Amino acid sequence: MTDKLDLLDEKASGGVSRRGFLQAVGIGSSAGVMLGAMGAIGLAPTAAAQGHGPGGLAHKQDWRWSPPSRADFSAKGKKNDKRVVVIGAGPAGLCSAYELQKAGYKVTVLEARHRPGGRTLTMRPGDKETDLDGVTQVAQWDDGVYMNCGAGRVAQWMVTMEYYRELGVPYQVMTNASAEAYLYNEKRGSTPGNPTKYRTAKADFYGTVGELLTYAADQGALDAKLTEEDKVNLKSFLSALGSLKDGKYWDAPTHADRGYSQYPSAWNVEGVELPPTRPDMSQTLASRFGNYFEFENSWEQAMLMFQPIGGMDTTYQYFVRAIGEHNVFFNSPVTGVENTSDGVKVTYQDKHGRSYQLAADFAVVASPAHIARTFTNNWGADIDTGLGEFAKGAAVGKIGLQYASRWWETDHHIYGGITETDMDLQHIWYPSYGYGERKGLIIGYYNTGTAASTYGALSPKEREARAVEQGVKIHGEKYRTELEHSFSIAWHKVPHIQGAWAYPNLASPYFQKLQEGAGNVYFAGDWMSEISAWQHGAFWAARYAVQSLHEKAVATA
Ligand code: ALA
Repeated sequence: MTDKLDLLDEKASGGVSRRGFLQAVGIGSSAGVMLGAMGAIGLAPTAAAQGHGPGGLAHKQDWRWSPPSRADFSAKGKKNDKRVVVIGAGPAGLCSAYELQKAGYKVTVLEARHRPGGRTLTMRPGDKETDLDGVTQVAQWDDGVYMNCGAGRVAQWMVTMEYYRELGVPYQVMTNASAEAYLYNEKRGSTPGNPTKYRTAKADFYGTVGELLTYAADQGALDAKLTEEDKVNLKSFLSALGSLKDGKYWDAPTHADRGYSQYPSAWNVEGVELPPTRPDMSQTLASRFGNYFEFENSWEQAMLMFQPIGGMDTTYQYFVRAIGEHNVFFNSPVTGVENTSDGVKVTYQDKHGRSYQLAADFAVVASPAHIARTFTNNWGADIDTGLGEFAKGAAVGKIGLQYASRWWETDHHIYGGITETDMDLQHIWYPSYGYGERKGLIIGYYNTGTAASTYGALSPKEREARAVEQGVKIHGEKYRTELEHSFSIAWHKVPHIQGAWAYPNLASPYFQKLQEGAGNVYFAGDWMSEISAWQHGAFWAARYAVQSLHEKAVATA
């Protein structure tokens, strides 16, 4: 698993592109090919076993969110007196509890950790975490500084935005891409180790590729594909894309889009364009900087993106308030979930290790799959196999670096966005909040795969030293000298979570069983959705589970 994840390094993105990730784990866009191959050897599920949502719909595409309603009970002359225990106060658990409660269900949420949000975790001043090795870190930030350790961005179309509106969560733009951020490859290119601004790399790649394609079209190399009119239109586009003059990149009178070492200013002060040395075509291509551009257009990560004001897990404080704090038990790890003759029995512990049992009509298990598997249960071998098909949570790490000044803004003109590297820190995120404040916090690494395992195996101080040593190469000495505090997370070492995300084998008949639930137990989590590793996926999986549960509750009322 870990080795496969490193394939991602070949095609880096502003975080983790789903396509790259799914390809790395052998699913996603290649699933059709895989299924075909499996079918040929008799391993693919039959058509009948594929895709059926609540109510036995034949195709998943037919499924529509239909929020549970008290009226569905009153239409039968009944009152909704059903109780539901929800296991996990992350996005899927809280969303499940919230939607059920709106329809009159009595909900109790059991959360193993001391706070809501799960992998949506914001460390604010004074917040403390102890990892599985017993290492405790305290976020010693100044007031107003925070670090999003997990979820860090929300796209415009995501259902997360609907919950912001519904709950009144204040939010702001999260700048996912900046023309002033850097690309830095120290292993590739003819001049490796040159931090290059996004805008410069883009100008050179678009210019180079534009010139090459223009040349190909002019030489007749595309004649089998294009009419004369197509060629005129293509060249018009390439000329605009690459700022070409007569089909040539460097013949253009200005290359201002590459940026300036001194920007234009007063009347007659034209500025100095970047840089005096011009990479040739081979140098540009060899840098592989163009490989980083895709995420800006990706369906998950294209701008605009958003974040709640004050930290990503603010959303879950709002959910807890809406559900009622008395209905959410923290420090209450679940040890058992069992179907009984008239409902479910959920066993959990308090912080002193004393065991308690709750009887209810239904349970929604919204903990990670590999944690759910550890519960005492009677949900049967198929469900256990289904849960077991999720890889144990991935190693993913982040470090927050608080600086005494916002030197990335004042010295580098970077106001949010992400720097991409081929070093094992992988991605550096600049803050999209606190503009104009004196201090600020950078995410000094966001990495996956073996890089995350490597960092995760170090002590917090060693992680900091490694991150700084790499970051200095791009930003200079202030990356070291202005540093005040750090806090780092290794998701595979967070108790009760033990991993960042997991992907299902969508072709598995056992996954279908998980979607159906087991008796009066339902499952939810981003891992149960078509879009794992996003809050959006967790919310939709919650809606799916809630709808299934409600249909059964009404049918049996
Ligand atoms: N959703 C995760 C991210 O944004 C993977 O990086």
